[in-house]
Amino acid sequence: MLDLFSEIEEPEREELRNLRKELEEANYKYYVLNMPTLSDREFDEKMHRLQDLEAMFPDMFDPKSPTQHVGSDLAVTGYGLRVTGKGFEQVKHKYPMLSLANSYSREEIEDWVRKLPSGVEIVCELKYDGLSISLWYEHGVLVKALTRGDGQQGDNVIDNIKTIPSIPWKIERNDIPEFFELRGEVLLPWANFERLNKEREEQEEPLFANPRNAASGTLKLQDPREVARRGLDAYLYYMLGENLPGSTHFERLSVAREWGFHISDAIKVCHSVDEVMAYIAYWDTERKNLPVATDGIVLKVNNLAQQDELGYTAKTPRWAIAYKFPAEKQLTLLKEITYQVGRTGVVTPVANLEPVQLSGTMVQRATLHNEDFIKSLDIRPGDRVWVEKGGEIIPKITGRADRNDEMSATASLNDGMMYSFPTNCPECGAELVRVEGEAAWRCPNEAGCPPQIKGKIEHFVSRKAMDIEGLGEETIDLFYQKGLLRNIADIYDLRLEDIAAQERLGEKSAQNILDGIEASKKVAWARVLFALGIRMVGETTAKKIARKYNTIDSLQWATTEQLCAIEDVGPQIAENIVKYFEDIRNLEILDRLRKAGLQMEGEAAPEPTSDKLAGLSIVISGTFAHHSRDEYKAMIEANGGKNVGSVSKKTSFILAGENMGPEKRKKAEDLGIRLMTEDEFLEMLD
Ligand code: IVH
Repeated sequence: MLDLFSEIEEPEREELRNLRKELEEANYKYYVLNMPTLSDREFDEKMHRLQDLEAMFPDMFDPKSPTQHVGSDLAVTGYGLRVTGKGFEQVKHKYPMLSLANSYSREEIEDWVRKLPSGVEIVCELKYDGLSISLWYEHGVLVKALTRGDGQQGDNVIDNIKTIPSIPWKIERNDIPEFFELRGEVLLPWANFERLNKEREEQEEPLFANPRNAASGTLKLQDPREVARRGLDAYLYYMLGENLPGSTHFERLSVAREWGFHISDAIKVCHSVDEVMAYIAYWDTERKNLPVATDGIVLKVNNLAQQDELGYTAKTPRWAIAYKFPAEKQLTLLKEITYQVGRTGVVTPVANLEPVQLSGTMVQRATLHNEDFIKSLDIRPGDRVWVEKGGEIIPKITGRADRNDEMSATASLNDGMMYSFPTNCPECGAELVRVEGEAAWRCPNEAGCPPQIKGKIEHFVSRKAMDIEGLGEETIDLFYQKGLLRNIADIYDLRLEDIAAQERLGEKSAQNILDGIEASKKVAWARVLFALGIRMVGETTAKKIARKYNTIDSLQWATTEQLCAIEDVGPQIAENIVKYFEDIRNLEILDRLRKAGLQMEGEAAPEPTSDKLAGLSIVISGTFAHHSRDEYKAMIEANGGKNVGSVSKKTSFILAGENMGPEKRKKAEDLGIRLMTEDEFLEMLD
């Protein structure tokens, strides 16, 4: 007979199982990989749905369900995948480190308050957006600093925590309890985050999406000197232990402040929901002036005896709740779409906006990516558009307001006028081309289009290429305007009097520029080849080509087939190289560069220094504490190994650093390929 019940139940049971899996993965991506895939709100909604489903099917109770434990940042995850192999001591927490329930509205706060004893005092605090840390003090001495881990045990990162100037190593007082624990949040202040990302951009290393990710990556580094250099900070918000002074949370934090701990001043005891809402309204604006990231408010019952009575659920205290600020997005007027032409001729549409404040910075430009993106959102100048900073660094447009909305300045101006991408280059007027299969429009006028010319010169002088100091973007622009620079070879014809005659440039800076130009004549052949800016010939490819073709003459006559025999050189790159040498204008430039004395010849490939890695294909992924990626590449090659770009069956192992890409990780896991930490790798090579 047909079992009607199981037929009806089945889809919900399946939904339950899927939600468990999805939330477990989301936890893993958030805590371990530092790459959140769900917004907090989506996560909470899914978690609530899972809780409801679990209540419907008590027979499906599972202690491993994400409803029963907090996310984990430990090196070994629930999937059994060893992620970091870090040598941190794992320590069991004296008191479990729990999470907080989230709320998003006055109603939800009212619901929470209703469950509390009447007349309770509520302490409002800022919710700092970093990583929680638990500091153990014995006889006034800092003895452990534990990450949250899985809530039950965490990593002892004390050496890294000791780099934070505001955390005392020792408290010299005679009224200090034998043992106490202070919990708080480790953060990377905005200014340090921006500086770090700028450095990473220069080094061509992947950028951190936000200060939280940067703080998390930093705290798990093995080199405290690098941690110290990055400049973490911490705010403490919870003291616990036996026989501690004070009968309220507020008193305890005041005592901790007296003992020398960094306790925020933005703490307020409130007596009504109205007062709480006023605190929220004030800080939602004011937090933009804070040096660190905050993402909400934490509400805590002040009286410690009442806290004890209220107790805990499996994951959160009943005596505290978080209120999350709405996501940082703003509606603003799209004044105009302009177009930026890059060094390779790609034309990128840029939204010019009525300036708006977003996450503490003023935003007036945001990328619109390409023609397809603009068309899919049907965006036109005059629309009011949503700008978001989200996790990314470059602001993006995520939608537009309804054109009938009266808030919208949308100009019926544009009604009926469909957006169309320009047909000609906004800079030089050449007709744009769009290669089939590519989203970008390109200006083909390589030799005559000003931003392409200037971009090529900027690339040529950049640090990893010819490294000519003094020739920055503005100077190149000025020299271009004055007709002194039209291509890279013109650099070597610059004369002292021409440079010194320019406003803003005296004889001293003119001489500096000339010294920089002179020094560039010693730059090795591989870097000269990279500096030429042949499309798709990056730094590493240039090195590989230069090793095989150690004179420019031999390279000039290489065929696409011969070039394809070089590791990492595919038909597209080979064709770009052949085309480069077919263009008479390039040959003229090369001739002038040779006459100027640039290195157009190099040494033949060096022999490997060992064969420890002979026959091995190694993928490098993520960021590293001890050496740069380039240095690791060189080490692999010097030991007879082969550095390959993507993970496949043939990959021998992955040299895995911080923030390794999730796709690579998944593929490695699927193929059973070993992840080796940099310490293990260095040990192997001695
Ligand atoms: S109290 C038992 N106070 O938010 C509750 N947490 O989403 C202990 N957080 O894991 C936490 N600012 O890492 C508390 N003023 C604050 C906070 C705060 C940030 C973090 C903390 C916690 C997470 C929960």
